[in-house]
Amino acid sequence: MSAPLPGRPSEDPHIPVLIDAILRECSPVSGVWLDGTLGAGGYTRALLAAGAERVIGIDRDPLALEMAAGWAADHGDRLRLVAGTFSDLDSLAGEALDGVVLDLGVSSMQLDQPERGFSFQKDGPLDMRMSQSGPSAADLVNTADEGVLADILYHYGEERASRRIAHAIAAARSVEPITTTARLAEIVARCLPRPKPGQSHPATRSFQAIRIAVNTEFSELAEGLAAAERALKPGGLLAVVTFHSLEDRIVKRFFQLASGHEANANRYAPAKADTTARFDLVTRKPVAPDEDEIARNPRARSAKLRVARRTAAPAQAIDPADLGVPQIRPKGRR
Ligand SMILES: C[S@@+](CC[C@H](N)C(=O)[O-])C[C@H]1O[C@@H](n2cnc3c(N)ncnc32)[C@H](O)[C@@H]1O
Repeated sequence: MSAPLPGRPSEDPHIPVLIDAILRECSPVSGVWLDGTLGAGGYTRALLAAGAERVIGIDRDPLALEMAAGWAADHGDRLRLVAGTFSDLDSLAGEALDGVVLDLGVSSMQLDQPERGFSFQKDGPLDMRMSQSGPSAADLVNTADEGVLADILYHYGEERASRRIAHAIAAARSVEPITTTARLAEIVARCLPRPKPGQSHPATRSFQAIRIAVNTEFSELAEGLAAAERALKPGGLLAVVTFHSLEDRIVKRFFQLASGHEANANRYAPAKADTTARFDLVTRKPVAPDEDEIARNPRARSAKLRVARRTAAPAQAIDPADLGVPQIRPKGRR
């Protein structure tokens, strides 16, 4: 086994999460599928092997597409790779689809490379951009209003010490810009109690929040779900794997609203207009990995799969606020 090249992940570095459950819930797999989060290609290859006639693989990370070039040729014209974001998946596909799969978040390839700046465990530049373009985490951390930073930490990371951490970041950057993951992790850790054995690193929530903000992950998700609704044929399947409660809440809410299973969160709120279901739920409850999968791949621990089947009802526009996507206001007021 050869060591990975410097700056390059190893050959098959990402273990696909919940893929057996996806294939089971979506069986029989057939027709044209779109994998909106190609990553290391685990889902794409599994879909092709399970009977998809063709797969369109999208990723916003140029490295994922570069790495895929090594194995894509094995599949000839059954596989088309596209650079872009899944919020545009309907226009990028350019055809009606039998299935869409989204495996949210970052890949091990991204997380394990210190130079991508996603990890607080390995020092690297404070980057966190999946697409390797646009404003980086360092740009955000060094320029955002302190109130906005606090809101990002609170709403995207559920960090209760958000104001304290934002204040510490503002104080530190007034002395010298924060440019590395280790420096940011140290500033955050100083604001929080030392973790007890078994507890996660104190910077976990802050890093998640900043990554979500840098990559506009929640608006991508809301728009991606809407794009899948437009692209799927009647009978087509949408399978989404989430990794934390904030993501899962958005997907759950989308499926509730689109399938007419809306739980009335506020009994005093006016009843929403009854709409014809655009999706039927395939999984009534989210599917979680079993103990074997978690033992093989501890990163699968918090994953949840939800699957729904498109009906023939016309697609509808969705307001991200209706899905519970937190709205961060420029003035930083909660
Ligand atoms: C968890 S990994 C997917 C792993 C893949 N299922 C596999 O088995 O190898 C997520 C991938 O999706 C990409 N990604 C995340 N958000 C995206 C978006 N909005 N549009 C396109 N790609 C995205 C990331 O760059 C990353 O490569």
